[in-house]
Order: sequence, then structure tokens, then C-alpha cells
Amino acid sequence: MNVHELRSRLSKAGQAHLLQFWPELEEAQQVELYAELEAMNFEELHAFFQKATAESSQSQRDGVDARMEPVPREVLGSATRDQDQLQAWESEGLFQISQNKVAVLLLAGGQGTRLGVAYPKGMYDVGLPSHKTLFQIQAERILKLQQLAEKYHGNKCVIPWYIMTSGRTMESTEEFFAKHKYFGLRKENVIFFQQGMLPAMTFDGKIILEEKHKVSMAPDGNGGLYRALAAQNIVQDMERRGVGCVHVYCVDNILVRVADPRFIGFCVQKGADCGAKVVEKTNPTEPVGVVCRVDGVYQVVEYSEIALATAQRRGPDGRLQFSAGNIANHFFTVPFLRDVVKVHEPQLLHHVAQKKIPCVGPQGQRVKPDKPNGIKMEKFVFDIFQFAKKFVVYEVLREDEFSPLKNADSQNGKDNPTTARHALMSLHHCWVLNAGGHFIDENGSRLPAIPRSAANGKSESITAGVNYNLKDANDVPIQCEISPLVSYAGEGIESYVAGKEFHAPLIIDENGVHELVKNGL
Ligand code: UD1
Repeated sequence: MNVHELRSRLSKAGQAHLLQFWPELEEAQQVELYAELEAMNFEELHAFFQKATAESSQSQRDGVDARMEPVPREVLGSATRDQDQLQAWESEGLFQISQNKVAVLLLAGGQGTRLGVAYPKGMYDVGLPSHKTLFQIQAERILKLQQLAEKYHGNKCVIPWYIMTSGRTMESTEEFFAKHKYFGLRKENVIFFQQGMLPAMTFDGKIILEEKHKVSMAPDGNGGLYRALAAQNIVQDMERRGVGCVHVYCVDNILVRVADPRFIGFCVQKGADCGAKVVEKTNPTEPVGVVCRVDGVYQVVEYSEIALATAQRRGPDGRLQFSAGNIANHFFTVPFLRDVVKVHEPQLLHHVAQKKIPCVGPQGQRVKPDKPNGIKMEKFVFDIFQFAKKFVVYEVLREDEFSPLKNADSQNGKDNPTTARHALMSLHHCWVLNAGGHFIDENGSRLPAIPRSAANGKSESITAGVNYNLKDANDVPIQCEISPLVSYAGEGIESYVAGKEFHAPLIIDENGVHELVKNGL
């Protein structure tokens, strides 16, 4: 260890305080801190800080609000308004999958701070009857889709699954997958890679120590994806496999249609290099970003960056003017990703979030601040929309596709394990009703279900259906869970349920139909 040289590098960078507790540290702690600081590029960090804070104050002064315009109709496809197109988009998507042209990429490097668990969010069990974790549900959807593509196009195929983790989640994520034998997927088609980390800084650019021998580090945001793709040659791996497009998504949405053939098919048929899936935002304060144009360029204005008055603005039809709610499901072609990685990545600016960052005080005491004492810098995955040559937006129904797990049950009534569990079970209840099955209560009477929209009739599509108002007075859905290994999006369950009556809880999985109460489970 050349501490002298490190000290002089730190002094030059204005970060000499990082060694302030050096003489008090045990040898192992010194080694740890030395290695951490040696690996840091202080000039680069300084440049990130300068640019990010300048941009942040500039946009606070100017505000984006006056320059925002809603997404124009011509780039928009809709799962509800364009029903006549759905079959064609779905076939196209399944065809692309069958040709090994589609990969999925999971953003799983977040820290799950709001959920408050010490392990990766994908390992969370929201309490479904099967107790499957988010990772397992996603893996099984991939497996099912591979089978469906093979069934329709006669080709055995693979959907490679790229999983971005961070320093905080890499080891436990890999161990979890190994322990569960990759949930039936082949190990070589599940590719883990790690995003970068950045130190937290005070408002004047000093790196914060979390402990006397440890810098406060956090992942560099889900837009850290692009730097990680470059550093770990992931785009080359995609090219080697012949992948043409990628569905990028967040770990926390229990309803996520991984590699959704309709979304893929829609984007491919429109000739897009970049696409976003959205749901209609109905509540102005809902914490979702909005897809829109700013100065004519597509982007997402994050929920933390839009003024309330703008978020509340309504059009003549009474709907929110900025209603394209980002559900963090993106489509990118591989050539587009290659350009981003090679050319555009350095142009992406970090966003600044003011945070309460636990740190050590001047006397070495641990401090838990009660107001923001510094910033974290993060890039956002959607900040590359601006570079797209052809950008499209695909709107889907919230109750079919979006129920994120963000908070703990104890925190508030939104986006928590209970709402995620209920959303999945309500959807699966709809699938049973659409396939001609019924639920009955303990007296044998059928439970009522009121269609939410006009029935769209029977279809060959793998993803057809009607949504129902299903909740009872206590707002508790019927317990019904269908394994993704049986159905990806409601298709193929007629043979299990048509004309039959069931008592909840009901599980349908690869071993058949299980009525848990009847079976005494
Ligand atoms: C995100 C979207 C927001 C959208 C909402 C929908 C971003 C920047 N914001 O917000 O527009 O409306 O989801 O639910 O995408 N992650 C990493 N590395 C990181 C940080 C996060 O991989 O450094 C991953 C997380 O594991 C998660 C995803 O990115 O899968 C989203 O992160 P999160 O912090 O939960 O984003 P939101 O603020 O909820």
C-alpha cells in the first residue's frame, strides 16, 4: 500500500478527509479502505458531480414543465384501442422469439430501500398460494413463452435472460438462481452482469464516509446499464447469439409480461429502434414517470421532477394531459444499444437526488441525519430515448400488466406485497372466468363477476380476455393462482376450467388443478 501517494491524490482532488481516521483503523480496515479509494477515479467523479449539480440547478430554475408536450397519437399503439392489430403484433413477436431474435434484460441492481429488505427484491415472496418469488414467476414466463413460440412456429428457441445486479445484489442473486437450478432455464442462457457504484457526496462535492473505513456507495442508477453493457461486453454477447431486440424491464412488477410478444411485435412492425410500454396515469400524484416530449425530444419526466400543477393538468376529455405512465418496460434494438454504448453513453447526465445519508461525524461517531445531508447521482434507463431514430409507445391496461412492489405492507396502502398479490390473483380469476370457469361460495352459489369492458369474444390470441370487477366488500380478491408454466397471459386454460365450478383457494399448475380447501391443504 502506497498510502503517501494515495494521500497526495486525495489532497489534489479535495478529498483528503477520507483518510482522516486512518491511524485509528485496524490493518484489515486499512486494506479495505485503501482498495476502495485506489479504485476511484476522482477526476471523473468531480466531473460527474459538477455536471449533474449544474444541470439540476438549471432545470430547477427553468423547469421542464413549460416545454412538455404529450405523446402524439401517431406513435401510440394501444392494447385496448387497436384490438384489430393485436393478433398481428402477437404473431410477429412470437415469430421473432422463435427465431432466437429476442432477449430480455432485467434491471435488478436497486437496493429496495422502500421495501426494506436486506436481500434482492426479486427474491421476495409476496405471499401467493404457491409462495413463488418474483424471480421464479419471471423465469417461468420465459419458459412458457419459449414453448409457445415453438408451438406456433415449430422452432426450438431460447430467450436469453440478462440480469443486471449491483455490488449489493450480485452475490445473493447468483446464489439464489444456482440454488433453484435457474428455475428450469439453462444456466448458460441466464447471464448476470454487474452495474457500477458511485459514492454519495455532500452538497459541496465531498465524498461521504459511511464508516471510518468505508465510503458510502450506491448503485449508479438503472441507467448505469449502458456503462455496464460496455464494460462487460454484453452487447457483443447479444450479437454473438444473433439477438435483434431486447425487452428491458424492472424487477418489481409482479404482472410483467416478460418479452411480451405483442409489445415486441408492435415495435418491430412499426420499425422502431426504441419503445416504451405505458399505462394510463389516472392519479396526478402516482409515483410513475410520464413519457412525453420535451423540446420535441422523447423522454420520461420522472415523478420527482414534474410540478404538481403540470401533473394535474387535464385535457377536454377530463383525462390527465400527461397520462402516459412509464411502467419501466422498454424495447431496444441491438444496433440501437450498440450505438448508445459506443457513442451516446458519456452524454447521459446523472440525476441528482438529495438524501439523508448515514455517515460518520467529525469525531468518528455514527450519524443518522434527519434531513438531507448530501446527494446520490443516478443515470436513468430511459434517458436514451432522446437518441432514438424511431420511438413508439404502447399503452396497456394496468390491471393486466402493472402492479409494482415498492413499499412494505406497513408503510402505506400502495404498491406493496398485498396489492401485488391481489393484482395477480384478480387477473388470474379473470382468466378463469374468460375460459368458462366459475367460482362458488361455501353454499354452492356462483360468485358474481361484473365485466369491466365489452367482451371481445373468443380469439385464437394467447392474450385475450375481459376484465371484471371482482373485489368483495372487504376488497379481498378470490385466491386464484395460475402457474406461468400453464399460461403466459390467460391462454390455454379452457381444458382445466371450462364449465367447471371451483372453491377458492385454487391453484392451477403443471400438475393440474388444486382446490386447496377441498384437498385439506
Ligand atoms: C421506476 C421508473 C419510473 C416508473 C416506475 C414504475 C426509472 C428511473 N424510473 O421508478 O419512471 O414510473 O419505475 O414502477 O426507471 N435499479 C437498478 N439499479 C439502480 C437503481 C434501480 O437496477 O441503480 C432497478 C431496480 O432494481 C428496479 C428498477 O431499476 O428494478 C426501478 O428502480 P426503482 O428505484 O424502483 O424505480 P422507481 O423510482 O420506482
